Amino acid sequence: MRVLSGIQPTGRFHWGNYFGAIRQYIDLQNEDESYYFIANLHALTTLRNPDELRQLTLDAAMDLLALGLDPDNAILFVQSDVPEVSELTWLLMTGAPLGLLERCHAYKEKKAKGLTADAGLFTYPVLMAADILAYDADVVPVGEDQVQHIEVCRDLARSFNHHYGEVFVMPKAKVLDNAAKVPGTDGEKMSKSYDNTIEIFEQPKAARKKVMRMTTDSRPVEDSKDPDTDHLYQLYSLFVDDEAREQMAAKYRAGGFGYGEVKKALAEAAEQYFAEAHAKREELAAHPEKVREILDDGASQARKKAAEVLARAQKACGIRS
Ligand code: TRP
Repeated sequence: MRVLSGIQPTGRFHWGNYFGAIRQYIDLQNEDESYYFIANLHALTTLRNPDELRQLTLDAAMDLLALGLDPDNAILFVQSDVPEVSELTWLLMTGAPLGLLERCHAYKEKKAKGLTADAGLFTYPVLMAADILAYDADVVPVGEDQVQHIEVCRDLARSFNHHYGEVFVMPKAKVLDNAAKVPGTDGEKMSKSYDNTIEIFEQPKAARKKVMRMTTDSRPVEDSKDPDTDHLYQLYSLFVDDEAREQMAAKYRAGGFGYGEVKKALAEAAEQYFAEAHAKREELAAHPEKVREILDDGASQARKKAAEVLARAQKACGIRS
């Protein structure tokens, strides 16, 4: 089984990214073969500052490595280091129905707001299809919001195969478990667009400050509270084992303690949880040449596979003999 997923370097990763996606990708790295890439070409549709894009791409690689992505187990690379994907995008583009792309939500939403969309945003799902098909991926772990794009990929693969013969492997989406709800500092879903995030590699002091400022309700201290409906408790639960979770839940039910206490426990638990990753991250940051080496090595492995698939597609459609 071959697993593949991409992640856009459009901002530093936060707790929501980690529990909602990154942790689950990393858990899948022990499958037969796994490919993870930093989707800098996709990021170009929203991020147009070259220095920032370069930095965020490197940061994303270091973050993933620090969080446990193991280059001996998984192939980690930068999307644009595999030019074969861009070539394959064109082949898929020639068979991509406009109607199919018009229904895709990123483009549709922008248009509905009366904004002008560029061709990059419109054809974003075709590049994503090439990303997946170029490596004969079987399984693509993604969040719920990307499932539509996997359907587009399958449609494009199906129609190419129908027209030219069996060229592409048909991929399947593996929808990531969103049961682990990750609330942000205001209690809403943690998301960059709500400005309520806490970044994974934020300085512990800054993270603690954000935690201490989190929104809480104003029920009296002595009241008994239901832990399951409280966002501080939900966050705390992500970082601790069953025993600590149960102890905290009991405190909620008993009442007589303030949210300040929960916040302190949360900040501490988060700091401990990411301590090893923070140390690893510092080590990597001190040796960017090693990170570059890992990415170069990943790209050369990825290119080998992508070149093979591209050649297959080119032969099938008559631009290579
Ligand atoms: N569009 C995806 C996102 O925003 C990132 C991505 C690009 C991707 N190419 C991919 C994900 C291929 C899975 C497979 O999350």
